[in-house]
Amino acid sequence: MKKKNNNYISIKDSRKIIKENIKQMRHYEALKRRKKEPAEYTSVMRDKNNIIEIDNLKTVFFTDNGTVMSVNGVSFAIPQKKIVGVVGESGCGKSVTSLSIMQLVQSPQGQVIEGEIRYNSDDLGENENGEKLAYNIVKMPTAEMYKVRGKDITMIFQEPMTSLNPVFTIGFQLDEVSFTHNPEISKEDAKACSIDMLKKVGIAMPEHVYKSYPHELSGGMRQRVMIAMALVGDPKLIIADEPTTALDVTIQAQILELLKKLQQEQGCSVMLITHDLGVIAEMADEVVVMYAGKVIEKGTASDIFHNPMHPYTIGLQKSKPLITSSSSEPLYSIPGQVPNPINLPNSCYFKNRCNRCTERCNGEYPKEIQVSDTHFVSCYLYDKD
Ligand SMILES: Nc1ncnc2c1ncn2[C@@H]1O[C@H](COP(=O)(O)OP(=O)(O)OP(=O)(O)O)[C@@H](O)[C@H]1O
Ligand code: SF4
Ligand SMILES: [Mg+2]
Repeated sequence: MKKKNNNYISIKDSRKIIKENIKQMRHYEALKRRKKEPAEYTSVMRDKNNIIEIDNLKTVFFTDNGTVMSVNGVSFAIPQKKIVGVVGESGCGKSVTSLSIMQLVQSPQGQVIEGEIRYNSDDLGENENGEKLAYNIVKMPTAEMYKVRGKDITMIFQEPMTSLNPVFTIGFQLDEVSFTHNPEISKEDAKACSIDMLKKVGIAMPEHVYKSYPHELSGGMRQRVMIAMALVGDPKLIIADEPTTALDVTIQAQILELLKKLQQEQGCSVMLITHDLGVIAEMADEVVVMYAGKVIEKGTASDIFHNPMHPYTIGLQKSKPLITSSSSEPLYSIPGQVPNPINLPNSCYFKNRCNRCTERCNGEYPKEIQVSDTHFVSCYLYDKD
């Protein structure tokens, strides 16, 4: 008998998916365009010491093959003046989580369909119960988001050449940021601010670089310029998505050191996205480990490095090369593959790769278990019920 191929989509199914996608995309786009009262996009911070609180965030992409659950119920917080490292293998939803915070998910295919992202803005006071008010970025109208994005929350991307405009000088692009944040600023003041920022990020000849075009700079210098650009508006949160992956190891260390120094000087928070556990160990105060669109473990850097609990986190640690490892020993790699984000199983997503799987793991997706004041894990091994 011919075996049914589950990966095959018939023309009839494909038409059905496309029709449904159009309906869904129209629905979510209409929600965005609807005029809203401020009360609809304000919420209350759970802890006023956090700058961002993400609660059950779900971001999907409506594709011709079906709905990709890129971020599938993510919850974590970014405390003020702290570095939170987000780690996980390719495709686990790190970038889509950060783009959701910036309201930059590629629409209309990409949509945040559920959850809350609370931003603890200085513009909002407290409610009558003395609780700190926050913007809910998920529901915020685009015009309001313009006031936050690029000023209070900024982003540094992996490849600076794609973020810098090749036809304008560095100075022109840096000045533009000042003009956007403060339309009243004079040309001279904007230039002074740009030169000052270039000095701050350790560029030796700031006046010369100010007049240069992006292609005239090295990769490391371009990334320094990107950091300068992110700092112009005196941000509360910098999202750095793989900021050093495109750089060589020595420059990578310099850029990370610079980012940490500036974060401490400016007193802002950083969400640092990376594949590299070594980078997280050097930089982060808190760590969030993601797998297939979910947070599987989170805690302080010490929790995650000294007491990793989820088999995936333990596997990640084992697959990190050590200076003491012998060159004849093959480097450990976690066997198997991440499940297809379109047809996710109704049980633990790590099950087919896990060497500690038991009968209980066939149950529904494991709930998040608090193992200490700061440490949380989603795995049946720690579920006492
Ligand atoms: N524009 C898009 N259209 C369809 N699917 C997308 C789109 N952008 C992201 N995805 C899907 O969302 C999932 C999460 O992607 P994301 O870019 O967040 O991964 P990531 O963790 O940042 O990976 P990497 O480490 O490779 O940058 C992936 O399965 C990806 O294929
Ligand atoms: S719930 Fe079970 S399958 Fe999933 S990571 Fe834990 S032990 Fe492994
Ligand atoms: Mg990414």
